[in-house]
Order: sequence, then structure tokens, then C-alpha cells
Amino acid sequence: MKIGTDIIQIRRIEKLIDRYGDTFKQRYLTKEEIALARKIETLAGFWAAKEAISKALGCGIGAQLAFHDIVIAKDDKGAPYFKLTKEAQKVFKIKSASISISHDGGFAIAIAAIEFKKTV
Ligand SMILES: CC(C)(COP(=O)(O)OP(=O)(O)OC[C@H]1O[C@@H](n2cnc3c(N)ncnc32)[C@H](O)[C@@H]1OP(=O)(O)O)[C@@H](O)C(=O)NCCC(=O)NCCS
Repeated sequence: MKIGTDIIQIRRIEKLIDRYGDTFKQRYLTKEEIALARKIETLAGFWAAKEAISKALGCGIGAQLAFHDIVIAKDDKGAPYFKLTKEAQKVFKIKSASISISHDGGFAIAIAAIEFKKTV
């Protein structure tokens, strides 16, 4: 089991959206994720969640893992969860995973916990 965490000032995301609009959102989110994240807090939370997941995967966002390799959705109670794309699943062998997002006081925070399949 590995965990990752990230915190982001919501205002930072807001400024980037004011400046670059959809281009910025599309840099780190899919169309479905953008449709799901209707509040600025949620957009910041999704950013933090992807960063937290990348830390739990042990690599960060970079050459090995892109923002678009991670897909966040919500269950019928509004709880977020994620999946990796098929391509990324070939690299990262996840057995089970969980994320949690919160926002308050101008910050969004996320924690990811990932259990990996045993490799022989
Ligand atoms: C889910 C809940 C814990 C969120 O807590 P909060 O202090 O209001 O808000 P936080 O900023 O800490 O968390 C919000 C994030 O929690 C996550 N979340 C929402 N529902 C969730 C759930 N059922 N389980 C886990 N996480 C959830 C989302 O990522 C949400 O972010 P979003 O609004 O950007 O989508 C709270 O609203 C709750 O207990 N809801 C269920 C009960 C309920 O609706 N009670 C009201 C009538 S009694």
C-alpha cells in the first residue's frame, strides 16, 4: 500500500482558468471530468487528486504518467474514485485504490491510497 497527497490553493487554479479557459482545463481533465467538475473547488480538487495519485504511484506527473492517464469519476453518492487508462494499466499494476478530496479556507486537498498487485 502506498499513499500520496497534494494540496492546492484554489485561487491558483482559478487564475489559470481565467487566463487560459478551457485550454487549461483540457490540459489535465477529460471532457467527462470537465462536465463533472462544475465548481472551481471541484476543479482544484481534481487537480490535487491527480497529483496525489501520481505520488502514490511513485512517479509524479511526468514522462511515465500524464494527467490524462488518470480518469476521475464519482459514484452515486458523490464520492470520487479513479481509474487508469488501459495504456497506463500496463505500467502500473493496481489491485485496489481509493481517493478522498476536501476543500476549505481557499485550499483543496486530496489523498490517494493504492494497493499494488504482487509481482513474482
Ligand atoms: C460528503 C461530505 C462528508 C462532504 O464533506 P464537506 O465537509 O461538506 O465537504 P469537503 O470539502 O470536506 O468534501 C467535499 C468533497 O467530498 C467528496 N465527496 C462527496 N460526497 C462524498 C461521499 N459520499 N463519500 C466520500 N467523498 C465524498 C467530493 O470529492 C467533494 O468534493 P466536490 O464537492 O468538489 O465534488 C458531507 O457532505 C456528507 O457527509 N455528506 C453525506 C451526508 C449528507 O449529505 N448529509 C446532509 C443531510 S444530513
